[in-house]
Amino acid sequence: MHNDEVLKSEPEQPDLVHKSRRDFLILATSAVGVVGTAGFVWPLVKSMNPAADVLALASIEIDLKPIQEGQAITVMWRGRPLFIRHRTAQEIQEAKNVNLNDLVDPQLDVDRFKQYPQWLVVVGVCTHLGCVPSGQKPSDNRGQYGGWYCPCHGSVYDISGRVRGGPAPRNLEVPPYTFLNETTLKVG
Ligand code: FES
Repeated sequence: MHNDEVLKSEPEQPDLVHKSRRDFLILATSAVGVVGTAGFVWPLVKSMNPAADVLALASIEIDLKPIQEGQAITVMWRGRPLFIRHRTAQEIQEAKNVNLNDLVDPQLDVDRFKQYPQWLVVVGVCTHLGCVPSGQKPSDNRGQYGGWYCPCHGSVYDISGRVRGGPAPRNLEVPPYTFLNETTLKVG
C-alpha cells in the first residue's frame, strides 16, 4: 500500500476500530517524540524511505491506550519499524507454553517482554536478511504460530517474536524500552 493510500484511509479509522477489536489500528497521533521533533507512526510499513529515516528519533514515547487487545501498530524508530502488539490472554498462554527445545533461538516468553505480558515490543526486521515480516494486521499471513511471517524466504515467528521456522537465525530483536506508566511506552 502506498503512503497516500494510508492517508486516505485514516478518516475511516474510528469506524474500523469500533467494528472489530482485532482491526489494525492506525495511530498517526499517538507517538510523541522526545528528542527535538515529532515522533512518527507508520502503519502498514512495507518499505523504508529517506523521509522515515530522517524522522526516526533517538527515543520516542508511545501512548498504548488506543491499542485494543489483539491489535498491533507499527512505529518507526531509528529508521526501523517497531512492532507493538497487544497480545490476548490466549496468545500469552500459548507463548508461555512453548517448549524451549522446540526453539531455534531458545528464549522464554518472560524474557521477551517487560512488566506487562500483554505488550510485546520487537523490531520488525527479519533476522535473516532484513525484510519486514507480515502479521501486523489480523488479515496478514502470520505463519502457523500466529506471530509474523517473512515473505522473502519464509521465516516464521511466533507470538513472542521467536523464530520457529525458515532461515532466520535469531528471534526478532527486543529494543531497549521502559514503561513511563502503565500505558506509556518509551523506546530508546
Ligand atoms: S529476510 Fe526474512 S526469511 Fe529471509
